Amino acid sequence: MSTDTPTRIRQVTEELVLVELSGRRVLVQASCPHRKGRLLFGYVDERNLRIRCPLHSSTFDLDSGRRTAGPACDPLRVVAVVADGSDGTDEAAALAGGAR
Ligand code: FES
Repeated sequence: MSTDTPTRIRQVTEELVLVELSGRRVLVQASCPHRKGRLLFGYVDERNLRIRCPLHSSTFDLDSGRRTAGPACDPLRVVAVVADGSDGTDEAAALAGGAR
């Protein structure tokens, strides 16, 4: 049940949150594709690398963005896997300046 490194979800930009799991950082869209639930307040299943929306419990794979449960029809946008030592802001800025 306990983990060495607690999972954290942090708002990076209005559109992106950074999910920090043990040894891994993933930038994903901040709002659920179902009805825009704020994933900042989601639950992360570290063992299965999934995030669950706090509103209607849609669950998404943090590697592919694929929906694994719940009412959402669209996948979650997984934007980037963030390098060690980065807080995600550089990646978010690069994405904001690049193609969407
Ligand atoms: S808003 Fe996320 S499951 Fe409905």
